[in-house]
Amino acid sequence: MTQGPLTTEAGAPVADNQNSETAGIGGPVLLQDQHLLEKLAHFNRERIPERVVHARGAGAYGTFTVTGDVTPYTRAAFLSEIGKETEVFLRFSTVAGNLGAADAVRDPRGFALKFYTEEGNYDLVGNNTPVFFIRDAIKFPDFIHTQKRDPYTGSQEADNVWDFWSLSPESTHQVTWLFGDRGIPASYRHMDGFGSHTFQWNNEAGEVFWVKYHFKTDQGIRNLTQAEANRLAGEDPDSHQRDLRQAIERGEYPTWTVGVQIMPAADAATYRFNPFDLTKVWPHADYPVIEFGRLELNRNPENIFAEVEQSIFSPAHFVPGIGPSPDKMLQGRLFGYGDAHRYRVGINADHLPVNRPHATEARTHSRDGYLYDGRHKGAKNYEPNSFGGPHQTDRPLWQPVAVTGLTGDHPTPVHAEDNDFVQAGNLYRLMSEDEKGRLIDNLAGSLSQVSRDDIVDRAVNNFRQADGDFGKRLEAAVQALRG
Ligand code: HEM
Repeated sequence: MTQGPLTTEAGAPVADNQNSETAGIGGPVLLQDQHLLEKLAHFNRERIPERVVHARGAGAYGTFTVTGDVTPYTRAAFLSEIGKETEVFLRFSTVAGNLGAADAVRDPRGFALKFYTEEGNYDLVGNNTPVFFIRDAIKFPDFIHTQKRDPYTGSQEADNVWDFWSLSPESTHQVTWLFGDRGIPASYRHMDGFGSHTFQWNNEAGEVFWVKYHFKTDQGIRNLTQAEANRLAGEDPDSHQRDLRQAIERGEYPTWTVGVQIMPAADAATYRFNPFDLTKVWPHADYPVIEFGRLELNRNPENIFAEVEQSIFSPAHFVPGIGPSPDKMLQGRLFGYGDAHRYRVGINADHLPVNRPHATEARTHSRDGYLYDGRHKGAKNYEPNSFGGPHQTDRPLWQPVAVTGLTGDHPTPVHAEDNDFVQAGNLYRLMSEDEKGRLIDNLAGSLSQVSRDDIVDRAVNNFRQADGDFGKRLEAAVQALRG
């Protein structure tokens, strides 16, 4: 079925889309060829800045369904009754690679989930890992610089990666995780997701709970070995993206069982680990995972640029009953994302179809800016007003948190059992003999590319502090490879 004549951007019919207009046969091209000029100019402006991290990704829409009663812990309306459904959009990603990079690489995977709730959009911008490399946002740009291209060589450099990790011993837990079996998922469907940070839930009575989210894949965990990933990354750079789209096209909708660890607020001060330290998990024996939902992805985006590249997720997008914790990484992220969106997509990014609320509407007095669509029509743009404008509720989304002491550049507080290595050691000792062997091989493969002995020694020493056997075996494996 024809859609009618091709037109210019202004809708006028185009006579010729094959030959540009010239001054006579074989002559120079004329400036009056509006269709040609417009076409070339639009083409030059097709790209927007790619995400500074997590540039490479794939997304899908779906449904979140409540399966367990969490109303004693949160007053969030979308969690208010069993069976309640909320539309979601999830964008998966890798972290370090640029927009065109291969999917099958050793890297954390982003797990960014937008719930289109009736109280506004709630974004949970997590990863497939329960912990992270650092615990203070002030180190994030430095960390990412070591993961990205070196300013001189233009490539990712093992020297930079291991220099930073070895000098940041708090990364030992996440690095042990990343070089273990789960470091290269076979697809986005075959991995778990985590909110990673601790967040606040608060109930109708105003009681506070600290929570950690878990999304357990119902497809089962499947991973690639380093050798399998190396091959796949070359043969099919789009492997994860294609797998997700095709599974949904086949009607094989991926699902995750959603759970939460819940800590009563009073426990936080004396818990054996600092519950707001992103380099640590809460052992399930201390706080079991309570199931409360099911996530299903069931609809592919129709246009990748509009719905995936322009999608924005912010850890600062909370809804009533949910809020931040004092985690210093999370606090930094509350600023970082909105700022990135304003730069990357523009001041009206929140109002694009994929980003705007779907189950309510945004009612602000903010106006105008690039690409404003006039959605407020003639409504007054100030407050207070007596023309029926939107008004404040006087009820904060989350409860206040008690603070003590003086302002200052304070390190994250250390609790009774906290140090940088204890949970890395526990993770290592949990692994089977085979898993340990692959972990050592993967780490040694990467560490042996480092050019300086002192960096290698410092890195090995961190793993030795996690577990003596871990350090000894890694040292031997690196030596064998470096000769
Ligand atoms: C203070 C530390 C961090 C900072 C400053 C930071 C900053 C950013 C920025 C600027 C982006 C690009 C946003 C955009 O252009 O739309 C991004 C993307 C992302 N970050 Fe972080 N990040 C931090 C830590 C983390 C952590 C700990 C996680 C997971 C637990 C995480 C998960 C993600 C994900 C999943 C995305 C991709 C979102 C999407 O799909 O659009 N980040 N981050």
